[in-house]
Amino acid sequence: MNEAPQDPRERALTALTAARARTTALTDCVDDPDLTAQHSPLMSPLVWDLAHIGNMEELWLLRHVAGREPMHPEIDPMYDAFEHPRAERPRLPLLPPDQARRYTAEVRGRVLDVLEHAPLEGSELVEAGYVFGMIAQHEQQHDETMLITHQLRKGAPVLTAPEPEPPAGPPPAAPEVLVPGGPFTMGTSAEPWSLDNERPAHEREVAPFWIDTVPVTCGDYLEFITAGGYRERRWWAPEGWEQIRTHGIGAPLFWRLEGGEWVRRRFGVVEPVPAAEPVLHVSWYEADAYARWAGRRLPTEAEWEKAARYDPVSGRSRRYPWGDEEPTPEHANLGQRHLRPAGAGSYPKGASPLGVRQLIGDVWEWTSSDFTGYPGFRAFPYREYSEVFFGPAHKVLRGGSFAVDPVACRGTFRNWDLPVRRQIFSGFRTARDA
Ligand code: AVJ
Ligand code: FE
Repeated sequence: MNEAPQDPRERALTALTAARARTTALTDCVDDPDLTAQHSPLMSPLVWDLAHIGNMEELWLLRHVAGREPMHPEIDPMYDAFEHPRAERPRLPLLPPDQARRYTAEVRGRVLDVLEHAPLEGSELVEAGYVFGMIAQHEQQHDETMLITHQLRKGAPVLTAPEPEPPAGPPPAAPEVLVPGGPFTMGTSAEPWSLDNERPAHEREVAPFWIDTVPVTCGDYLEFITAGGYRERRWWAPEGWEQIRTHGIGAPLFWRLEGGEWVRRRFGVVEPVPAAEPVLHVSWYEADAYARWAGRRLPTEAEWEKAARYDPVSGRSRRYPWGDEEPTPEHANLGQRHLRPAGAGSYPKGASPLGVRQLIGDVWEWTSSDFTGYPGFRAFPYREYSEVFFGPAHKVLRGGSFAVDPVACRGTFRNWDLPVRRQIFSGFRTARDA
C-alpha cells in the first residue's frame, strides 16, 4: 500500500518541472517594479520568493546531494527565511529580477544534470527521490505564497483561470456526517515524499463525532455577520475579540459592503460575495467564533484526518478521501486550475467513504489543534521546516486550497499558521460531539 505510482526519477523531474512552470507564470505576469515592491508587510516581494526558491534548491540538491560549493555565498543569508522576517526583506540588497531569474534557472540547469545520475537510494535524504520531492513541494508552497501576494496586490488583474464547474450530480444527502469512534491510523510512515511532521504513522483514539459534509459557505457565514456575530463578545476567544476590536474587523478579509451588498475583491476583480462557495480568508478566531455561534466547534486535527482517511470497511487509512489514487480534476479543486474555491457540494467523486466532501482542495480548513510533533517525531532533514513552529502559537490547517499543488497535498499533509492570519486561503468546517 501507499506505493509511489511512478519511477522516482521521473516523478522528481515531473514535479520540479511543473513547479517551475508555475513559478515562471506567477513572476512573468507582472513588471519589475511590481516584482520588487512589497504588496503587504505580511509578504515578501515576489522577487525574494523567486531567488529563495533557487537558493533552497541550490542548498539541498547541489550542495547536500551533489557536494557542490556554494555558487554565491554572499547572497545566502539574504534568502534565509530565519535571518530576515518578511517585513524587512524589501530593504535588503536583493538580486534584481533579471539576476534572480538567471540564478534560479542556473541552479535548475545544474540540478537536472545531478538528477540524471544521482543515486536515489542508500541514504534517507535521497531514498525514493525524497529530497527532490521535498524541493518540488517547497517551490509549490512558495507558489501558493506568491499567489497570496497576488491576491493582496492592488491594481488591474493579471491572472486569469476558468471558472470551476457548477457542482455535478446530486447535492450531499445530509448536512453532517457521523464518524464512528475508535482507533484509526493517523500520519504516515509509508508515503515516500511525506514531510517530517506527517510522520510516523501512529494509532489515535477518536470519540464519535459529527462533521459538516461540506465547508462552511459564504452564505452560512453571512448569517453570522447579519446576526451580529462580530459584535457579541461571548462567541469570541479573548485574543480574537481583542483582534477584531483593535483592527475594526467585521467580515472576512477582502469583503466590503457596497450599497448594502457584500462584495469581495478577488485577484483584482470586485464581485458579489458568492453565497454557495466555501468562505475564504477567515482567521482561526473567526472560524472559532462562527462555530461557537452555530452551537458547534472546530474539529480537532485527528478528527479531520479520520473523517478524511478512515475507511470503515477495511479499517485502514487511505492516502486521500477517495482512495489511494493521485488526485485528478474530478476529485478536487487543486493546483490553481481555478482562482477560487468550487461551490459547496462539488466533487462527489472526491468524497470520503463516509461521504464527507471537499476535504482536499478548495480551502485550507482550520482545526482546533495546536501544531505539535506526532509521537516519535524526528526533525528531517532540517529543524526549521516544522519543529521550530511546534507549540501553542500555531494552529493546524488541513486539506489544502485551490492554490495547493497535488504534490504538496495528501490526507496526511499538515499546514499551520498564527490564529490571527487571514490573508491565507483559509476556510473551515464545523463539528460536534456525537
Ligand atoms: C508550511 C506554509 C507554513 O510558508 O511558512 C516554505 C512552508 N517552509 N518554506 C511557510 C515553507 C519553508 C511554510 N508553511
Ligand atoms: Fe521557503
